[in-house]
Amino acid sequence: MAFLDKHKVIETNATLLLILSLLVVTIGGIVEIVPLFYMENTIEKVDGMRPYTPLELEGRAIYVREGCYVCHSQMIRPMRDEVERYGHYSLAAESMYDHPFQWGSKRTGPDLARVGGRYSNAWHVDHLIDPQLVVPESVMPKYGFLASTEIDGKYAAELLTANAMVGVPYSEEEIANAQADLVAQATPTGDSSGLIGRYGEKVVVDDFDGQPDKVTEMDALIAYLQVLGTMVDFTTFKPDPMR
Ligand code: HEC
Repeated sequence: MAFLDKHKVIETNATLLLILSLLVVTIGGIVEIVPLFYMENTIEKVDGMRPYTPLELEGRAIYVREGCYVCHSQMIRPMRDEVERYGHYSLAAESMYDHPFQWGSKRTGPDLARVGGRYSNAWHVDHLIDPQLVVPESVMPKYGFLASTEIDGKYAAELLTANAMVGVPYSEEEIANAQADLVAQATPTGDSSGLIGRYGEKVVVDDFDGQPDKVTEMDALIAYLQVLGTMVDFTTFKPDPMR
């Protein structure tokens, strides 16, 4: 066939084949990438998303420090088995305030993207102190020391400032009150009106670790775990059909 004969010219000339292949790949690449520059935002806006409170952010830092992401993902894929087990698939907006994101790539334990509210605080305390007490066959390490490591939020303002630098919209007021807000969220007997005013009605103020007299790393970690996947209300959420 005449067409195949012409193609033979390309196939027998390595340099020409290379140049033409590069040309094809370049066009394909441009077609995929250029539209992204014309989109206002690649993350669909979703009601309910807010930056983490100082206590939750501190808990998140502990989660990263302890390497929880090595065994846990935070990314529910839009496939039936995942959605039935973990809940609504993860939205891009749900990790918009995560620097770095905690999607993970390994599930030795279950996905944690929607673990918030699934268990009581007391369950988390028991489980973190001794996972095998709750789930005998668990290979999760023990994290009991978190309950005896007190924190006072001394560096909370720095933590918020660092996140603000990479784009999380923390206001100057939120940064100035970071330490007080951190302590307030773990002290239900205190005044948390400032915290609620800054971060919203849905913020949970509680004695997360069951030790009312002190604020510990356990408080921070559980506050973080309990907010995961709870910010967006999926009973009213409708995906934008234009995307
Ligand atoms: C060596 C791997 C490993 C590490 C590291 C690890 N986990 Fe786990 N995790 C597991 C396994 C396995 C399970 C399932 C059995 C169980 O519940 O203990 C689990 C279960 C959980 C659950 C219950 C999830 C559910 O839906 O039932 C939570 C919450 C949790 N881990 C939090 C953490 C946190 C927080 C850290 C870090 C401080 C952490 N894990 C570190 C392996 C790990």
